[in-house]
Amino acid sequence: MLSQFDKIIDRRSSNSIKWHAFPDDVLPMWVADMDFAAPSPILGALHGAIGHGVLGYEFQLEKLKEIVAARMQKLYDWDVKAEDVVPVPGLVTGFNIAARIHTKPAEGILIQTPVYPPFMKVQEYTGTVTQIAELKKVVNEEILHYEIDWDVFENAVHSEDAKTSMFLFCNPHNPTGTVYSGDDIKRIADICEREDILICSDEIHSELLLDGNKHIPIAAISPEAAQRSITLIAASKTFNVAGLFVGFAIIQNEEIRKKFIKESQEMTLHTNSLGHIASEVALSGVCDDWLEELLIYLAENRDFLVNYVKENFPGVRITNPESTFLAWLDFSTLIEQGKVTTPLQDFFIEKGKVAFNEGTTFGPGGEGFVRFNFGCPRETLVEGLERMKVALA
Ligand SMILES: Cc1ncc(COP(=O)(O)O)c(C=O)c1O
Repeated sequence: MLSQFDKIIDRRSSNSIKWHAFPDDVLPMWVADMDFAAPSPILGALHGAIGHGVLGYEFQLEKLKEIVAARMQKLYDWDVKAEDVVPVPGLVTGFNIAARIHTKPAEGILIQTPVYPPFMKVQEYTGTVTQIAELKKVVNEEILHYEIDWDVFENAVHSEDAKTSMFLFCNPHNPTGTVYSGDDIKRIADICEREDILICSDEIHSELLLDGNKHIPIAAISPEAAQRSITLIAASKTFNVAGLFVGFAIIQNEEIRKKFIKESQEMTLHTNSLGHIASEVALSGVCDDWLEELLIYLAENRDFLVNYVKENFPGVRITNPESTFLAWLDFSTLIEQGKVTTPLQDFFIEKGKVAFNEGTTFGPGGEGFVRFNFGCPRETLVEGLERMKVALA
């Protein structure tokens, strides 16, 4: 039976960055949005707003904040109040505000690489020091899994002769797809408490959990963690409305929240009214059936991809992501054998007319890798894999 997610939607007729960054004969499997239509309740509400005709300023966000707080309660039994919720125009904006209000130049921001590239720009923008706790790569029959190496993590704290002021956490992790366990999250929270480090936790992928995995917001792990956390969430990745640019910072510490709001006001940051509508509908729960179907489809795509790589590309290693629609592929053996050349993004565009994210942009641990976006109809996925095969032939 065909799934709604099998439908091919022409995105070249839109302004999609994913579909226009490379020449038209290149199949894009890079930037992290999906090639699926958003759920119909969201589209219906947006049509309704457009139909009204007037798209003026909006500042009445109380209902939206209540909806966000209620979703945290429902999903995680996490007691968030509407007043703890601060809308932001995006999560990258959110973690940059966090760094601006909390860190001083020459202090450190700790990250776990390989990681979403904007995590490495914050330090440049704030004059802070990048402190890297590289994740540990574990290989089991060509399947990659990433874990925290606790010695590496502890050694990275206050490294580079700088006091660690903020830990920028990616939970679940992009690009490895790791869902951190309660024990891991508790241990991170304890280290941050002991060393007096602010936690800024980017949880944008928290509802894209495959195989029934469970997400734990770090702020929900203890009252102490809640008091030192800025948690960033959004409907954007989950319901594929990233272009509407609305996210939320959940900040339960009043002093930190006031600073965060003051900084956003001074920068005159606003969120857009169509994004409010989409977020309200998405997080209200009426799209949860759509999400359930999506997660099944993504897990099937992931399984197809992992099996295809195992069967067709000897020497290539791949993650079996527990979350997200992003896989992480290791070509280092093929590079050593001289079968592929770097940069890998250029190699695959040139030889196979298919575009992936270049691994080196994800920082240390990204050399020899590409990130593969499997948030697309199965037919597109097959096409991407066949193009990869042509490149590797
Ligand atoms: C971990 C992570 N954070 C943030 C973003 C982007 O968030 P926004 O568009 O809301 O700034 C992405 C997009 O891929 C991401 O993977």
